[in-house]
Amino acid sequence: MADRYLSFAGTAPGRFLTRRIGLPQPTALHRWSAERPSFEGELLHLTAGKSPLDGPDGLAAVLGRTGLAVRAESERPVAVVLDATGVTDIDTLAEVHTALHPVVRSVARSGRVIVLGAPLDTADHHQAAVQQALEGFVRSLGKEIGRGITVTLLRLTDADAAESTLRFFLSPRSAYVSGQVIGIGGGTEVTAPEDWGLPLAGRTALVTGAARGIGEAVAATLARDGARVVCLDVPGAAVELESVAGRLGGTALALDITAPDAGARILAALPSEGLDVLVHNAGITRDRRLVNMAAERWSSVLDVNLASVLRTTDALLSAGGLRTGGRIVATASIAGLAGNAGQTNYAASKAGVAGLVRALAPTAAAEHGVTVNAVAPGFIETKMTAAVPLFIREAGRRMNSLGQGGLPVDVAETTAWLAHPASGGVNGQVVRVCGQSLLGA
Ligand SMILES: NC(=O)c1ccc[n+]([C@@H]2O[C@H](COP(=O)([O-])OP(=O)(O)OC[C@H]3O[C@@H](n4cnc5c(N)ncnc54)[C@H](O)[C@@H]3O)[C@@H](O)[C@H]2O)c1
Repeated sequence: MADRYLSFAGTAPGRFLTRRIGLPQPTALHRWSAERPSFEGELLHLTAGKSPLDGPDGLAAVLGRTGLAVRAESERPVAVVLDATGVTDIDTLAEVHTALHPVVRSVARSGRVIVLGAPLDTADHHQAAVQQALEGFVRSLGKEIGRGITVTLLRLTDADAAESTLRFFLSPRSAYVSGQVIGIGGGTEVTAPEDWGLPLAGRTALVTGAARGIGEAVAATLARDGARVVCLDVPGAAVELESVAGRLGGTALALDITAPDAGARILAALPSEGLDVLVHNAGITRDRRLVNMAAERWSSVLDVNLASVLRTTDALLSAGGLRTGGRIVATASIAGLAGNAGQTNYAASKAGVAGLVRALAPTAAAEHGVTVNAVAPGFIETKMTAAVPLFIREAGRRMNSLGQGGLPVDVAETTAWLAHPASGGVNGQVVRVCGQSLLGA
């Protein structure tokens, strides 16, 4: 169901009325399209403290490759990057305020504020305190800035290793990701693609639950980025699956992911060189409060959403089914982070996905050269959420900093960034795609 309120609030009378009555004023977001694939305009590059990222191959060089015009001053920036990696004490923390206070009002609609922080130094509690302070700062700014602008904190030590991440956050692809704190570093080798426009060229990606909804969007986005896609879904969805795979020039694999031999059957269906990207997207809900929840509702949700993710991941990794440089992206949910009445089974399964990702990431990187991350969608406009009763649906849509639901493509773009060959330094992260939902914030 289309978000009619968002369309209305974007008209002149809609803007007038919503402002007068004090209703939410969501801004239509600039998302990637073939016609408008990137931002155009100025990127304001500011610094707080003495940055360790300076130097000829440092941050300025990476920002210069984003296509935006990098400036030290700008009247209407489309993006602001504040390098706060050199913030180590209260005085340098004050420079964050000094730098951003005069410019936040001038950032363009659907623009970006990106704060760069350093990893917390446990041997220096002053540095750790003020670097942690950046998280509260960023999350608060995300909630108050408005106009469809997103605010993100990236922790990094090496600007080169963060190039794919900076490009993602400095583009329309990250339109619905806000209020997030993402650590970059360690992980696996970072490989710059030959062509940044087709980063997955020559790579094979398998997406579970690809017949519709978010999975279909993920398969389409990975194919757009050059991947050969293998689309997997239950045999009952074979017709839709064939149609999606055919449209994307990929192959269809009709298979119930909970089958005990699913791992072996996936391996048999893959090209001999194996897989580069594995996206665990298939998922189900069987909502009931715990008092009314039969064991079958518990086990079916845990089986699809978590047990099969564990089984197929183990099967593929142990058989060498994922090539060095591979990427695993699993699907959690903000319900798994925040909890949700009527969803003890679903939230347990999705919190389990986050646990799996954090624990497996270091070993998968060390032993297989593979990164493991998760996306945690919030309210996404799909058939599933269209079926939610009107008032609950409206609350779900508005209860986030951007005042609107996300689209399947928002989850897909985030998955594509994590799947990128240059995202080898992003590992063990659970990235919410939720417009900074108030749930679990
Ligand atoms: N839509 C949202 O707002 C939202 C929010 C948070 C998380 N998620 C998660 O995102 C993922 C996709 O959600 P969606 O909204 O696109 O759901 P959807 O129901 O539209 O699509 C899920 C797909 O998974 C497939 N699937 C289910 N069980 C399977 C199995 N045993 N084997 C193979 N395929 C199977 C289904 O046939 C379907 O095509 C799920 O993991 C879901 O939990 C969605």
